[in-house]
Amino acid sequence: MQQIRRNRRLRTNEAIRSLVREQHITPNDFLVPLFVVEGKNVREEIPSMPNYYRYSLDILEKEVKELWALGLKAVLLFVKVPDHLKDNQGTEAVNPDGLMQQAIKTVKNATPDMLVMTDVALDPYSSYGHDGIVEEGYIVNDKTCGVLAKMALSHAQAGADFVAPSDMMDGRILAMRTLLEKEGFFNTGIMSYSAKYASAFYGPFRDALDSAPGFGDKKTYQMDFSNREEAIKETLMDIDEGADIVMVKPGLCYLDIVRDVRDVVDVPVAVYQVSGEYAMIKAAAEKGWLDHDAVMMEQLIAMKRAGASVIASYFAKDAVKLIG
Ligand code: PBG
Repeated sequence: MQQIRRNRRLRTNEAIRSLVREQHITPNDFLVPLFVVEGKNVREEIPSMPNYYRYSLDILEKEVKELWALGLKAVLLFVKVPDHLKDNQGTEAVNPDGLMQQAIKTVKNATPDMLVMTDVALDPYSSYGHDGIVEEGYIVNDKTCGVLAKMALSHAQAGADFVAPSDMMDGRILAMRTLLEKEGFFNTGIMSYSAKYASAFYGPFRDALDSAPGFGDKKTYQMDFSNREEAIKETLMDIDEGADIVMVKPGLCYLDIVRDVRDVVDVPVAVYQVSGEYAMIKAAAEKGWLDHDAVMMEQLIAMKRAGASVIASYFAKDAVKLIG
């Protein structure tokens, strides 16, 4: 039999494979999540996220310099708030001298050109561990949007380049965008967690921030993981309300959604490889059941191939060190 087309020709050796390779991972792909805590000289490992830490501001300063030296140019900040500062309204979230506001300034001082994104949601500040104000067991929508808008403004005033609302209240992007415009922060970006699913993969993150819901779950605001069409609706609405970047979260199980969104929007699409995804790879690798680096790179490439141009990942540093 005569074969004219032989696909294996393009797989003969690494030189030809790399020549025709469609996707590459570079430091420019990453957004590095960072957990910040109060105190001095604190570098606490998160038990369910091996080799990932919470940093006090002084250590954060060193960490972002190290990231910058590795070519990582964007961070996503989260704070762990002590219990005595939590309440139902998330009052501490808009404190101009709060931990988040200080963290933003710390990063900007240490690495002035680092892109600083901040998580905007009430859960780390909420005595109930929910992303909104609770009234009679219900997570109230519109009142919460008002607080979130003030929180976003407070982050912008502290120097954040982008705010990243992860709460899934209806109308929060419009509320934030309107207030930011009114106050003259027209260049502050919004990266919206547009299609954020109610996922069991967030477990280790909630350990990291001590932010697990005190009652019930997050299914009345985060999306049902059975749904695909709904992700498009959510995403298009957020773009109409003023989002600059849209995000799908979690990552690996939701790459069909990343592709669906990529095919219909005209803004960059981000994906969040969440804490549970990180923990699974670490745990399997620790047992010697999976090759850590190979599995990590395969998943990161899959996220790009699905259509993500921004990847929020706890593996950012590992991956960048690996590619050299
Ligand atoms: C909080 C928030 C969560 C994550 C990012 N922002 C957790 C949640 O919604 O309960 C999860 C990130 C991760 O698991 O890595 N609004």
